[in-house]
This record gives sequence, C-alpha cells and structure tokens, in this order.
Amino acid sequence: MIDIHVLAKQCLAAASVEEKLARSAEAAASIAARDFRIETRAEPEPIDQPGRPSRPRLVPARQLAQRGLGSAEGRAALVHAVAHIEFNAIDLAWDAVYRFRGMPREYYRDWAQVAADETRHFRMLSARLAEMDHAYGDFDAHNGLWEMAVKTSASCLERMALVPRVLEARGLDVTPGMIARLRAVGDERTVGILEIILREEVAHVAAGSRWFEWCCARAGVDAQETFARLVAEHARGVLKPPFNTAARRAAGFGEQEINRLMRQSAA
Ligand SMILES: [Fe+2]
Ligand SMILES: [Fe+2]
Repeated sequence: MIDIHVLAKQCLAAASVEEKLARSAEAAASIAARDFRIETRAEPEPIDQPGRPSRPRLVPARQLAQRGLGSAEGRAALVHAVAHIEFNAIDLAWDAVYRFRGMPREYYRDWAQVAADETRHFRMLSARLAEMDHAYGDFDAHNGLWEMAVKTSASCLERMALVPRVLEARGLDVTPGMIARLRAVGDERTVGILEIILREEVAHVAAGSRWFEWCCARAGVDAQETFARLVAEHARGVLKPPFNTAARRAAGFGEQEINRLMRQSAA
C-alpha cells in the first residue's frame, strides 16, 4: 500500500526539472489507480523552499523585466513566466496533499489529479520554449506562489481560499487577455496551449471551492464572509478587473461572491 504523504514529500523534494516531472506523474498515477494509506500520526514538516533547479534565478516581482510581445524574446519570456507558474503549481498541489492531514480520500485524489495536470501543463510550455530556442531557467522569476504556500501552511481553509481560489483563479482572469495578445501577433501555437490550460484550470479552482467550503463547514464558519475577510487581509492587490466571470462561475463562485469581488477590487 502506498503512503500518499511520503509520495507527496518526494515530489516536493525533487530538485531537477526532470526528476520533479517524472516523480510527480508517477505519484499521481499510482494515487489515481490504487488504494492508498493516509498517515495521520506524523506531523508534516515546514518547507521553506521545495526542491527546485538552480535556475531560474528568483528575484522580487518588481525587478522582473517587462517585455512586449512584438519580439520573439518577449513571447519566450511570457511562455517562461507561465511555465514557472506551472512548475510552482506542481509543488503547491503536492504540498496540499502533504501538509493537510485527516482530510477525506477525495481531497487527496483531487490534488494528486491537479499535480498531474500541472505536470502536463509544464511539459507543454517547456516544449514550446524549446521551439523558441529557450529553456526553463533562461529568464528570472519570482517566488510569490511559494510564499503564499508558506503563509497558509497552518490552515487548509486558508490554503484553499488563497491559493486555488485567489491565485489560480487569477489565472482564469488574465489568460484570455494573454491569448488575445498572442493571437494578435500570430503566435497560434502558444495560444493553443494556453487554451488547454485555461480550460483545465477551471477544475482546479472548482476543487479549491469544494474543499474551501468543506473546511468552512467543518469549522462552522460562513464561507462567503470568511473568503471576503481572507482576501481583504492577504490578497487585496491580487484582485484586478476584468474578471473572467464565466470561468469563475464554472469554478464555484456564486453570483453574490463575484459581485463582492468586484466591489472589493474597486475599494
Ligand atoms: Fe496549470
Ligand atoms: Fe492549476
């Protein structure tokens, strides 16, 4: 019988790109196919930084160069930025499996499935970068996603709110604009990849919504009030219109909640 927390930790620890991808795909497949053991005795250890390659260099977000999409370099930098998000998303999914103990089996199956999707997303973008004569690591990147993982490591409720329902949901908002800008410069190959990713990310945010509500019910707190408070405390700057309201609805955001997001972002 496999121990999912041990598997998740091995995926987090993997430092080279190839090892991270191979372990992640393998672990997700075995969790989907087999019965697994849920270890509830041991406490999870804090992870300051999961295993990662020495490049890309991590810098503060404000130091990242902004390039237009008119040049090949600018388009490669955009594909690299999305690849970096997907690489982090692999670790975020495994950390959701590793860190939060005593959740229902379906919770662990959901996040292992997300890890499998993120692994595939990274591979598609990495292949696209190679076509552009680049590789993951060629441009600088920031560590904002993992920083949010550390911030929410004590609470599954906060993690579900602030990672899938804020950060991944932000991806739903910004990807249509990226697709339009890439289409305008004729980069249909990247457009095709981003369309697949956008479609599949809806399911990740939906899983976040389901488990956030589950955590709220367990804690006996109101989901909408709690989400609004967490956004106000930790993520106000992340919310910027235009919102992809259709995708957010499909991912479990209610009408009232979408209206409230619009008010919060305008405040
Ligand atoms: Fe993804
Ligand atoms: Fe995702």
